Amino acid sequence: MYAEEIIAYYEHPENKYKMDDADDSYSDFNPVCGDKLTVYIKVKDDKIEKMSFEGDGCAISMASASMLTEVAEGKSVDEIEKMGPADVIKMIKVDPGPVRIKCATLSLRALQKAVFMYKHGKRD
Ligand code: FES
Repeated sequence: MYAEEIIAYYEHPENKYKMDDADDSYSDFNPVCGDKLTVYIKVKDDKIEKMSFEGDGCAISMASASMLTEVAEGKSVDEIEKMGPADVIKMIKVDPGPVRIKCATLSLRALQKAVFMYKHGKRD
């Protein structure tokens, strides 16, 4: 049913750990199933230097969170804010449908909220 890549990322996720020196983090949940996920970011010169995540959820939510950690690296915080479901579908290479898209975009929503916290908590 799922692309092999999704299964591979689910079984062997990249960057799935708590980042102790994160600049910001955000925990979000999928209201459909209650699965939770926390995203951590390290930002340098307004670019994502490193992203990691923790959480438990379905294959799509975990695989897309893991893929997102790689896609987000090097992107500016403004670029992250402009990302949407279409970018996630492109990233996971499958359209999961109207219900499962909430699983697929859970990590992006959390990342965008972490970026929001970063931008608005910044003192300069
Ligand atoms: Fe819970 Fe997908 S079923 S995040």
